[in-house]
Amino acid sequence: MGKRFLVTAGLPYSNGRLHVGHIGGAYLPADIFVRYQRATGADVRFICGSDDNGVAIEISAMQAGVSPQEICTRYHEGQKRDFAGLRIDFDVYGGTHQPHYRETHERFSQAFFTTIYDKGYFTKRTTRQLFDAKANRFLPDRYVKGTCHHCGTPGANGDQCEACGKMIDPLLLKDPISTISGEPAEARETTHWHLKLADFEKPLRDWLESKQDQWRSSVLNFALGQIKQGLPERAMTRDISWGVPVPLDDPEAKGKVLFVWFDAPIGYISFTAQLCHDQGGDAAGYEKWWRDPETKIIHFIGEDNTVFHALIWPAMLMAEGQHQLPDNVVANNFINFRIDGEEAKVSKSKTAAESPVWIEEFLKRYSPDALRYYLTAIAPETSRTAFDFNDFVARNNNELVATFGNFVNRTLQFVAKYLDGNIPEGGGANDADRAHLAAGDAALKRVGELIETHRYRAALEEMMGYARACNQHFGAREPWRLRKEDLADCNAAIATCVRAVQYLAVLCAPFMPSAAERIAQCLGTADAATALKWAAPEPLPAGHALREPQILFERLDA
Ligand code: MF3
Ligand code: ZN
Repeated sequence: MGKRFLVTAGLPYSNGRLHVGHIGGAYLPADIFVRYQRATGADVRFICGSDDNGVAIEISAMQAGVSPQEICTRYHEGQKRDFAGLRIDFDVYGGTHQPHYRETHERFSQAFFTTIYDKGYFTKRTTRQLFDAKANRFLPDRYVKGTCHHCGTPGANGDQCEACGKMIDPLLLKDPISTISGEPAEARETTHWHLKLADFEKPLRDWLESKQDQWRSSVLNFALGQIKQGLPERAMTRDISWGVPVPLDDPEAKGKVLFVWFDAPIGYISFTAQLCHDQGGDAAGYEKWWRDPETKIIHFIGEDNTVFHALIWPAMLMAEGQHQLPDNVVANNFINFRIDGEEAKVSKSKTAAESPVWIEEFLKRYSPDALRYYLTAIAPETSRTAFDFNDFVARNNNELVATFGNFVNRTLQFVAKYLDGNIPEGGGANDADRAHLAAGDAALKRVGELIETHRYRAALEEMMGYARACNQHFGAREPWRLRKEDLADCNAAIATCVRAVQYLAVLCAPFMPSAAERIAQCLGTADAATALKWAAPEPLPAGHALREPQILFERLDA
């Protein structure tokens, strides 16, 4: 039986635009993995959607003076367009509060909560929390400011003090102010349901230790380190109105919703279920993806999501007990950006609206393949990296245009110009030709292994290494000279180069799907999916007619 994967990428909050860092950190590697696995014949579902619930969306809406539904639907649509523009092709792009998905999502989220509740893994606890009497709401830590209780600096944020770097306990802040209304905040009592994470320390540790040779060590070390310190209870309910209602028959649960980090990962399941339903399957069709151990579940995320995907979500799954744990959690670091040597973070308020770090803006000027290539070349797999526009232009011009594009172009042009566009008889291949095609087979194997082990950057380098070798082979064989001196040998050389173009199309397809499809078109191979299967490509028969060569990559002006 073939392999089966359920691949997810972290659900973006639907209150902002996507930028290059989001893409390189989670969505692009996920898409590369999915494309590669499909090319090998695996059965894959690629799941994503917007994270629409929670206080951040509610407050964005309040500040914009519109409803949370309006904000999250507006950004949901924009993000969906961004992904499509980049050829990040999910099977489903749901949304935890989008009309088509909300009901299924609520049903799954509430069932999860109820099952965990019935099994006794929640503690009900009344604690004091800061409250904004004017806005009539409890205040999340991020929306409080006051004087740091460690160092006395005024204006410290309620989660962490920027001056001394220490964690803040908002109840200890002096003169706390709500940043929502600007009024003083007061402590009030409230009741919430806390997940007893300590009950899962041992099973989590055993499970994580079984992943020792498979997962990125940064993820494992972080998660095991947290367990060593002990996992405190976490409140899984909130005092806001935007979200999934707490499904308890308890007067104290009235008007409360599930914590957004409780319901959001359940979106991976509820969107899968909705997809199966929409494709005409029965409601239980999703079980093949979430309950059958033949399916491997892989979560792609940014570094800041690690605690949720490597500890809390697995603990929820263990507590609930009816769905599979992830096979891998692939976390990437952040990508900053660098302009004129200055490194900066992309920020909603500080980054110019028309800056090409925003995907929407980028796509107005550049091609998705160029971005996919560069973001993979600087993939933050082991540490943070920076998107540098000068470097982007240089790599586009030197690598995509001058190496990859040049080889494909000179080969196809040669056939068009000197061979009437027809594949020549390739019978007389010499040792160098044979060695070159063997290098194509080796590249297929190596790139495949690297993608399977989530080393996308190395995989891309391997692919480019083959493109470089192709260019060298063309140069060394000198078909322009052979054409006059030894036509049979010229034909053998060109037949080899055309086959190398086929290999390159296969090899680049996970990274740059549009370029691969364009090559397949130029080669006149009827069906791109067959032409791009992850295997040694079928040689095109002698006499097969190529189409007009096309430009693969545009040179960019620095
Ligand atoms: N919305 C979160 C973020 O952007 C990610 C949520 S991932 C999920 O950081 F698993 F919870 F869905
Ligand atoms: Zn301080």
